[in-house]
Amino acid sequence: MYRTFANMLKCFGLGKIKLATKTSSYVKYFTSLPEPKEPTIMSSSIPGPKSLELKKKLNSMQLSDAVKFFVDYESSTGNYLCDVDGNVMLDLFMQISTMPLGYNHPRLLGVFNNAKNVKTLVNRPALGFFPGKDWPVKLENILKRIAPKGLDNITTMMCGACANEHAYKNIFITYMRKKRGEDGCFTEEEIESSLRNLPPGAPNLSLLSFCGGFHGRTMGALITTHSKYIHKIDFPSLVWPVAPFPKYKYPLEENASCNEEEDKKCLTRVEELIEEYCKKERPVAGVIVEPIQSEGGDNHASPEFFQQLQCICKKNGISLLLDEVQTGGGCTGKFWCHEHFNLSSPPDVVTFSKKLQLGGFFHTTDFRPRETFRIFNTWMGDPAKVLLLEAIVNVIKEDKLLDQVEKSGKVLKSGLLQSEKEYPHLVNSARGRGTFLAINFETSELRATVIEKLKKLGINVSGCGENAIRLRPALIFEEKHANIFLDRFRKVLSEIK
Ligand SMILES: Cc1ncc(COP(=O)(O)O)c(C=O)c1O
Repeated sequence: MYRTFANMLKCFGLGKIKLATKTSSYVKYFTSLPEPKEPTIMSSSIPGPKSLELKKKLNSMQLSDAVKFFVDYESSTGNYLCDVDGNVMLDLFMQISTMPLGYNHPRLLGVFNNAKNVKTLVNRPALGFFPGKDWPVKLENILKRIAPKGLDNITTMMCGACANEHAYKNIFITYMRKKRGEDGCFTEEEIESSLRNLPPGAPNLSLLSFCGGFHGRTMGALITTHSKYIHKIDFPSLVWPVAPFPKYKYPLEENASCNEEEDKKCLTRVEELIEEYCKKERPVAGVIVEPIQSEGGDNHASPEFFQQLQCICKKNGISLLLDEVQTGGGCTGKFWCHEHFNLSSPPDVVTFSKKLQLGGFFHTTDFRPRETFRIFNTWMGDPAKVLLLEAIVNVIKEDKLLDQVEKSGKVLKSGLLQSEKEYPHLVNSARGRGTFLAINFETSELRATVIEKLKKLGINVSGCGENAIRLRPALIFEEKHANIFLDRFRKVLSEIK
């Protein structure tokens, strides 16, 4: 029985999901159902009849082909998602990897059981002009607790693509400032030509990105996205350099020398492209790369690859941007994936979104634009999302969730490796860090079949790249959840002829 708010918080202090009693006056906000023991499937197909009905309605207003099923977010809890047809699924996709604490975590529900925080939610400010009185302290807390080492400035934005687009602009601003000299001013010609999208005001600069990379779908971010044609076709773009990203052979231990060769080949091409684009008078101002290419197929590169990439950037006086939109927030066992790489100094920019609830980027003071309004928009983030982020970071630390990710990740990965041994004709190349794992299928058709069969057994997973399944559970995913997934995964594989 929770007699007081404080008592209730104490009860939830360990971050475990517990059932609030109906007598609690806070039940409206705090009700978190206990997790079921395992998934249950009620409808004969997924999407079930209620989902299909809703899809029809939605489709009358907008294209809704991508909708898999409709979710009952009130009933979803922890690692389990409930759909409107009463199906309860173990979720290893977690809203495209954005829910660090699963569904209806009591500590997150608790954030808005507080009049002050509700007012933060309701009165969303134009942060660039009118931040609330506690905004500087809030950001300072975030910086202190989660900023990548060496990056002591933060620019908040909305989503991943928006974070990347603004970070790209920041790279160009810094490049041009250095070119002009610290005291250089814009010329009349630059000012006038910029308004007509022409050089010298809109200079012929470029960013180098990688084949298979994904950095968002807005027009600027899309120039650097190369995962699937459907994201890009019909949209005008800029001719910027695209380097090959390493394609490793697995298992890594047995293929070390050929993977090393692969690193060298790709890095040589990066250097060549930087030179070529300089000669073409479209110099490269920065390199943008994901620590693990996610949407593109969970493609990994070695720490040495990233160390040498950073050396190339430094040698050429250009910026290195690590897009941690999908890898950030703890799912690789470290808060930032690039912590696995032992870089000799911090990257210049790290972009984030997804598990961090809002978008943005961390950067050095040197990256700060000298003029205002150059990196700016109406909202520039969302203080209500920062309230959630604060609570998320507290729970990650108090509940030692990065250790949990390591433990669950070990179980998951060894299960995937085992399934590779048992079914080598079906699956291969199990890989990943923490619970950020993937496995390849012989064909994309087989991958689709497995995803469908898993869904019917109450497991929600997603594909990435041409033929991989990616695992993106919440940080609260435990060994017992890993075993439920693995049992059903093996069952599906065993049933495939
Ligand atoms: C690495 C990476 N960058 C950028 C994005 C774009 O983020 P958003 O969809 O929030 O614009 C994504 C989205 O999946 C991503 O995985």
